[in-house]
Amino acid sequence: MGKLLFIETLGCAMNSRDSEHMIAELREKEGYETTDDFKIADLILINTCSVRERPVHKLFSELGGFNKHKKKGAKIGVCGCTASHLGEEIIKKAPYVNFVLGARNVSRISEVLHKDKAVEIDINYDESEFAFKDFRSSSFKGFINISIGCDKSCTFCIVPKTRGDEISIPDSLIINEAKRIVEMGAKEIFLLGQNVNNYGRRFSGEHEKMNFTKLLRRLSKIEKLERIRFTSPHPFHMDDEFIEEFSSNPKICKSMHMPLQSGSTKVLKEMKRGYSKEWFLNRVQKLKTMCPEATISTDIIVGFPGESDEDFEDTIDVMKQVQFDQIFSFKYSPRPQTEAERFTNIVDGDVASQRLSFLQSIHNEIIDQNNAKLLGNIYRVYFEDLHRDAYVTGRSDNNIVIKVKGSEELLGTFRDVKIISIGRTILTGEVIA
Ligand code: 5AD
Ligand code: SF4
Repeated sequence: MGKLLFIETLGCAMNSRDSEHMIAELREKEGYETTDDFKIADLILINTCSVRERPVHKLFSELGGFNKHKKKGAKIGVCGCTASHLGEEIIKKAPYVNFVLGARNVSRISEVLHKDKAVEIDINYDESEFAFKDFRSSSFKGFINISIGCDKSCTFCIVPKTRGDEISIPDSLIINEAKRIVEMGAKEIFLLGQNVNNYGRRFSGEHEKMNFTKLLRRLSKIEKLERIRFTSPHPFHMDDEFIEEFSSNPKICKSMHMPLQSGSTKVLKEMKRGYSKEWFLNRVQKLKTMCPEATISTDIIVGFPGESDEDFEDTIDVMKQVQFDQIFSFKYSPRPQTEAERFTNIVDGDVASQRLSFLQSIHNEIIDQNNAKLLGNIYRVYFEDLHRDAYVTGRSDNNIVIKVKGSEELLGTFRDVKIISIGRTILTGEVIA
């Protein structure tokens, strides 16, 4: 039997794509196959996230567990954003770790594998000039990076320090990758970047003038490609042209992630988000007018330094006005090397926790009310996942997760589904055509 790789992926979709690339590199160059059981693996990789503090703490206890129960002689590598930000410190704290590989260096996996105690965390390393390998964890959709890094300076965020400057990937590489995904039989692509609608801001080589709207138009010309999704757009870059393309292009899925972070203009300024409460609401208004069927999801941070009760009420106000279909909400977590780490007007931890649960309870009410209206609706669902108990899940164009009774023959197909019962995060339907 060949060598076995166990890989755990934390964090965002960009990390998932990085893991796919590392798996492909290790298969091709080193002959590894993947396993779900770390105890039999020859190589254990953790692809980490550093956006909040808690997962970073968890990393060390997890590493301890891996070290204790791993197969004799197995190597352990720490990759991703926490690798970028802690670097050598990881090996100091956990000396059994064999190498550390930053989020911007994942292409070097087979190189570091053979250098004991290597720490490769160069955030200027340029991975934009070649496409990531074609290994995909799903046969029905493919992730594609369209840019690397992030040029924003949001005061709470560690990402620019872990993933470096923003560089767009040449559109010819993206289009070829999309074509290969479609040739493989998948009908959906998922474009990834920290700020996708800032696409074209900077290329590392010569490139014609481009923006995200132009890229979407080019991609949608690919025959047999039926669905295009992307994450994350930045509210600051949501110009009219982009919203109009989103609304009118039938291949673009009608779900928009609009990371609000806070509804208070004062807090948004402190966060250096580049927009106000009014701008955000104006963009939502434009989107809802142009595309009433679009669902909108968001990220919200509560308890950012200086957030008063009134500021928090602004966030609740935006939430009620927009009626977000999904929220990812977090308590502010101070991060090293960020501007906000030095802010002194800290919000009491209990107050922040209360705000978080209040926000989530209001959002649950919004969801329950709005989901109740979906009963009896018919959606075109693209089925992607088979579960135990003979049911299959897929997503509507506007990203509603729907489950139906069925078997593998539904996978990879589009069906019309009528909603027969409602849950908070998943709806149940029956296939009608
Ligand atoms: N504290 C809490 N949440 C954070 N996020 C980013 N940085 C922090 C932080 N320091 C959240 C933001 C971002 C999402 C990916 O994680 O809401 O959009
Ligand atoms: Fe993704 Fe950001 Fe977490 Fe890195 S820190 S894995 S970019 S969410």
